[in-house]
Amino acid sequence: MNFSNRVALVTGSSSGIGAAIACELASGGAKVAVHYRGNEAGAHAVQEKIASGGGVCRIYQADVSDAGQAAALVKQVQGDLGSLDILVNNAGTTRDTLLMTMKEEDWDVVIHTNLRSVFTVTKAALRSMVKQRWGRIINITSVVGLSGQAGQSNYAASKAGMIGFTKSLAREVASRNITVNAVAPGFVPTALTDLLSDEQRAGILASTPLGRMGTPEEIAWAVAFLAAERSGFITGHVLTVDGGLVMA
Ligand SMILES: NC(=O)c1ccc[n+]([C@@H]2O[C@H](COP(=O)([O-])OP(=O)(O)OC[C@H]3O[C@@H](n4cnc5c(N)ncnc54)[C@H](OP(=O)(O)O)[C@@H]3O)[C@@H](O)[C@H]2O)c1
Repeated sequence: MNFSNRVALVTGSSSGIGAAIACELASGGAKVAVHYRGNEAGAHAVQEKIASGGGVCRIYQADVSDAGQAAALVKQVQGDLGSLDILVNNAGTTRDTLLMTMKEEDWDVVIHTNLRSVFTVTKAALRSMVKQRWGRIINITSVVGLSGQAGQSNYAASKAGMIGFTKSLAREVASRNITVNAVAPGFVPTALTDLLSDEQRAGILASTPLGRMGTPEEIAWAVAFLAAERSGFITGHVLTVDGGLVMA
């Protein structure tokens, strides 16, 4: 896919799915803003991988659960790289526990990181996309936002919220040639899913028709597809990439 002359910001691209998305977009020629919160070494590893493939990127640090830092991140990327054409809201976290034992902080951290950040970052990025009458916004939700999951009411609420946000914004900005879509991964081995027990893993595999977990690269491919010039007639869509786990 060809992303030359495009600038992309991938939030949370210091590891896992975000790192694979950053590499995929850079391999198509996009100038990529690689973003991290705490994993600076991971961001540098992604930068090295992109550079070794002849790609271009810059590294940015911000805690996107903090509205001020999230908005400043977008401004900095636009200032340094000249524009922001493709925004991938990927940063995410979990604080799993049953609702009976969930602390208010567990709720707030997950909602602020996964959902409020999408509002803040997207709002900051939107004005220039509207002006240039071109943009791609891709939100990384989860199959859990579609199906729910015991022990993840905070996470599922944040991911379902992203889907409502995606569809609403898609309607708002369609006339400006900006598409807004969501990708809903199934289970992909990353730092985020490291905490799963063997029993949970076995349960997931048993209910996944393809009988395996996905790879970050398979999620990145779906994101690149939605970001492509030729995907301009797809908006407000939720693309599950889950081995058939959640079939509508
Ligand atoms: N893995 C799966 O099975 C799966 C399934 C469905 C959806 N997803 C979604 O995919 C996305 C990526 O997750 P992953 O599995 O690749 O996990 P990961 O490897 O843990 O990556 C999470 C990324 O989010 C960043 N991040 C977390 N909190 C942040 C904050 N407050 N401010 C800025 N950045 C923050 C992390 O940055 P630092 O490490 O630098 O702090 C990291 O780069 C998430 O939105 C997740 O919900 C994953």
